[in-house]
This record gives sequence, structure tokens and C-alpha cells, in this order.
Amino acid sequence: MDKIVIKGGHPLFGTVKISGSKNSSLPIITSTLLTDNVLSLHNVPNLSDIRTLHKILASLGVKVSQKSLHTWEYQADTINSFTAAYDLVKTMRASFLVLGPLLTRFGECKVALPGGCAIGVRPVNFHLEALSLMGADIEIKDGYVYASTKSKRLKGAEITFSRVSVGATENTLMAATLAEGKTIIHNAAMEPEIDDLANCLVSMGADITGIGSNCLTINGVDSLHGATHSIIPDRIESITYAIAAAITRGRIDIIDTRVEHITSVIEVLKAMGVDIKEITGGFSCSGEGNNIKGIDIVTSPYPGFPTDAQAQIMALMLTAKGASNINETIFENRFMHVPEMQRMNGDIILTDAFSVKVMGSSELHGAPVMASDLRASAGLILAALAAKGESIIDRVYHLDRGYEDIETKLSSCGADIYRYKDTPKE
Ligand code: EPZ
Repeated sequence: MDKIVIKGGHPLFGTVKISGSKNSSLPIITSTLLTDNVLSLHNVPNLSDIRTLHKILASLGVKVSQKSLHTWEYQADTINSFTAAYDLVKTMRASFLVLGPLLTRFGECKVALPGGCAIGVRPVNFHLEALSLMGADIEIKDGYVYASTKSKRLKGAEITFSRVSVGATENTLMAATLAEGKTIIHNAAMEPEIDDLANCLVSMGADITGIGSNCLTINGVDSLHGATHSIIPDRIESITYAIAAAITRGRIDIIDTRVEHITSVIEVLKAMGVDIKEITGGFSCSGEGNNIKGIDIVTSPYPGFPTDAQAQIMALMLTAKGASNINETIFENRFMHVPEMQRMNGDIILTDAFSVKVMGSSELHGAPVMASDLRASAGLILAALAAKGESIIDRVYHLDRGYEDIETKLSSCGADIYRYKDTPKE
């Protein structure tokens, strides 16, 4: 298993180019199942989660071909299986997004229940309830969802989610594109990744209105066609590098990004005393002057403060003057990085299962730590960049799911970072 070694305590200076969004790419790649024509995608990040999805699609019969490092073509004209097997689905929950497209186009499918993961139980009841309202027969047996439609097509329906769900909005949206009649999704997720998916579906011939709002209206069409689409930049990656600049009290220009997708985080960073200026294609972020102070945040669905940036901001709060509070409202087990940051001398108090108090002014020390999930790993990397001495971060395969070339990007800004498989460098 790979480990990353960081010798921290140095300010970072440089420019980082942001890769395509993982959480946009996953549903958009899945949408290839909605047509037998070619879907061509640019700016797909080179990540292990994308490779996992490629394996799942290939197991269904989709032709997956790489045109260049970040450009891929997909064609689902020879689907020969409607089963997404547990072995593949268990490694990545987003695989569950094949359910809506397979069901709406072929009228049947069998998809493994993804189960829980490190950050929470993560049920899929909203996905299944929405598809049932659209006329699907759903049976859960032996760890699999068996879904089928009595009539040839799903039927449009009015769906109101009781809670905002990114994945359930995506599965329902994709299913609705080929359903008979009109579907209205109330309390839809509004994350930029949903807009990206909806825009790609529109280029494939889908009839969707309300994009960018929490109410999506979809008039089902008989078929979709191929399209060419470019994936939006990864907003969580942008935030992570912005915090790398702030936490090391350096300055990083973050380019090929969309500042408007991270407004809530930019506001928090500015309120903490981080200097942020818009530049062509992105923004420049600086923690120079060492004026970072504590703040209170609550994670919430977009446009609120993203849960996917909670571990990273916690690392920055550790180095701030004054205390900060974090209230995590999205996932029930998203503080796994707390004991690891405490091992680095971080002063954090778990107030209850959903809240922590970060005391600030912690003199972080390097330590061997263990990554538990993707964003927790990013939080630990950031803490290690600020810590005096050497940190060894174990289980970095979590990081490889969502951060393309992280060592190269950080070392181009002056970070002392390397990866090893078995033996550390002398
Ligand atoms: C997406 O997960 C992202 N994953 C997550 O990013 C992100 O943390 C999350 O949205 C919230 O923003 C992808 O886009 C691939 P949800 P998703 O459905 O869709 C509950 C990362 O690090 N819920 O919006 O699975 C659920 O348990 C990952 O990149 C139900 O109760 O999240 C959670 O508490 C991690 N029933 C809340 O809703 C359901 O049927 C929001 O989950 C579905 C969800």
C-alpha cells in the first residue's frame, strides 16, 4: 500500500491547474447508457474512481476508449448485461448511478446495493422511491436491487425529495430523460455537478428546464443521441489547493477553475483573513502575513459550505488564532480525521457526533497518520504541509480516488512530498 511522506512547515508558492470534476464525471460517464451513439468527454480526470466506473461500464458491454489523457469516448450500442455486480459496486458507491439509465432505456436491471462506507450509512431509499413513483417495480433480494418496468417505459411523475440528495437527483434526472411524459423533481440538489450533468443531457437531446434551480422539469423524449461535452473543473480540488496556500502561509494561483462554484468557501476563507483575488481563469489565494483567525461553519447542500471541504477547513482552523466550531449536517461519521489530526498535536474537541470545537493556535507536529476516506486524506495532507517535521500518511489509495497528480501539483509549489510503496527514502 502506498504511503505519502511530507516534511512540512514551509510556505507554498506557485500555480496549480485544476483537473476536471470527479463528481461531475461519474454521473456524466454513466449517462452514456442512455444512448447507443458515441458520447465524447473532455477534461475527464485521471483518477482511480473513473477507472472503476470504466470497469463497470465495460462489464455491461459499453465500449470505452481513451483518445488522450483526459478525453474519452463511450458507446453503449452493444449492452449485453444489465447487472452491476457487487464486487465492483462495493468499491465505489457512485456505481449505483447506472440504475436510472439502465432501467429507463432497457426496462430492467440488477444493481448491487452499495452498502455503507467510512463516512456514513448512506442509504439509497430516495433513489428507489423516486423510480417507484415513475412506475418501476423494485425488489431487494440477496443484496441486489432488481428493477423492472411493467410497461415499456418509465412514466413521468412528480417527485419531492424530503432531503437534498445529489445521487438521487442524478439517478432520477437520467431516468426521467427517456420516461413517458413529464417529471418534476422538487427539492433537487443544486450542486454544480448536477448542472453539468443536466447540460450534457440537454446536448444529448434531453428536454430539461429549471437547470440551476431546486426544481427540475424533464419532458421525456423517445431517444437521446451522442454528444461532445467538457467536464467542469473540480471545485473541491480548487478549495483544497486554496487551503494549501492559506495553511502554509504561502500564495498559490489556482487556475482552470470556476470561482463562482466555490462562493461559500471563498467567503469563509476571506472571513478567516485569507487574501483572495480573482485572476484570469481562477483566483490567487494567500495566507501570507499570518493573520488567519477562527470561524464557525455549518456544512449544508449547495450553495452552502460543502461537506467535502470540511476536513480541509478543519486543518486550517487548527492553525488559526482563536477557536472555531464545525457542525457537520450531511454525513453522520465524517470526523474520522479528528483523532489523526490530534495525533499531529491538533487541539480538537468532539462536542457531539455532529460537532467539533477546533481550539486554534495548535503547533502541529509531523506524525504517522492513517487516511480513512478521500476528503479526510486531503485534510491530513494539508495538516502535514503545515506541521513541523515529517508526516507519513498511510492508505493514500483514498486520495487517488479524487486528486489527480497531487504530489506533482504540490511539489511544483515547493512542497517536500514523495510517495513510496514499501521502504521510505533514506
Ligand atoms: C455525493 O454523494 C458526492 N459523491 C459526495 O462526495 C458528497 O459528499 C455528497 O454528494 C454530498 O455533497 C458523488 O457525487 C459521487 P447524497 P451522494 O445523496 O450522492 C442521505 C467525495 O468525497 N441519503 O447527497 O451519495 C445520505 O445518507 C464524496 O467526493 C439518504 O438518506 O450524497 C446523506 O446523509 C463523498 N437516502 C445525505 O442524504 C438516499 O437515498 C446526502 O447524501 C440518499 C441519500
